[in-house]
Amino acid sequence: MDSKAPDLAAAYDLASLSGTKRLYAEWAKTYDRGFAAEEKYLLPQRTAQAFVTVGGKGPVLDAGAGTGLCAEELIRLGICEIDATDISPEMLARARQKNLYRSTIEADLLAGIPVRDGSYRGVISSGTFTHGHIGPEALENLLRAGASRAQFALSINAKFYHKAGFAEAFDRMLAQGQITDLALPKVAIYGSGATGEHQHDTALIALFKKS
Ligand SMILES: C[S@@+](CC[C@H](N)C(=O)[O-])C[C@H]1O[C@@H](n2cnc3c(N)ncnc32)[C@H](O)[C@@H]1O
Repeated sequence: MDSKAPDLAAAYDLASLSGTKRLYAEWAKTYDRGFAAEEKYLLPQRTAQAFVTVGGKGPVLDAGAGTGLCAEELIRLGICEIDATDISPEMLARARQKNLYRSTIEADLLAGIPVRDGSYRGVISSGTFTHGHIGPEALENLLRAGASRAQFALSINAKFYHKAGFAEAFDRMLAQGQITDLALPKVAIYGSGATGEHQHDTALIALFKKS
């Protein structure tokens, strides 16, 4: 990778897919015990909890699954049929070591996900709709993977939500009848004891159903 160490600041600065792959290839080695543990990163758990609270069921596609932190919480909550998709083979390799997923699928969410249309009753994502990562352009591909009436729970960094045009994208999807039941609860991304400039950052969890 380039001179930047793998951390949140470097992740928020990403500007290309090759940069993303390079950063996560390196970050995979320390992501769980470094970033997630030290920064009290709780968004994966909060996203999984929101999904289950609104009645989400498996099989679930975990988009931008990384090392599997969302799946750990889904399994704790009783949902066990979960597939992971991510652009980083190194992050997925870490997830595989934990035996969380039925399968792991290496794919660029912006280019398409190689699964049959309508395969999943649930689609979840945490930490991937954020600065330097992916925007509303990926929503169509995720919708395609969901079955009719599939429950979605996608966390979106609150500042990025406005900057990247998610409000307009959801308005359009509602107006076109592609989704229903949209709710956008706000959650803290980090727990108490977090440090650094992003310690108070929030995310919206976009909860909706595919029509
Ligand atoms: C901050 S991590 C979040 C991982 C995990 N969901 C979590 O909350 O810990 C962002 C993940 O998004 C993945 N990612 C970034 N851009 C992507 C893309 N275009 N397609 C698929 N995955 C992508 C990265 O490889 C990384 O694993």
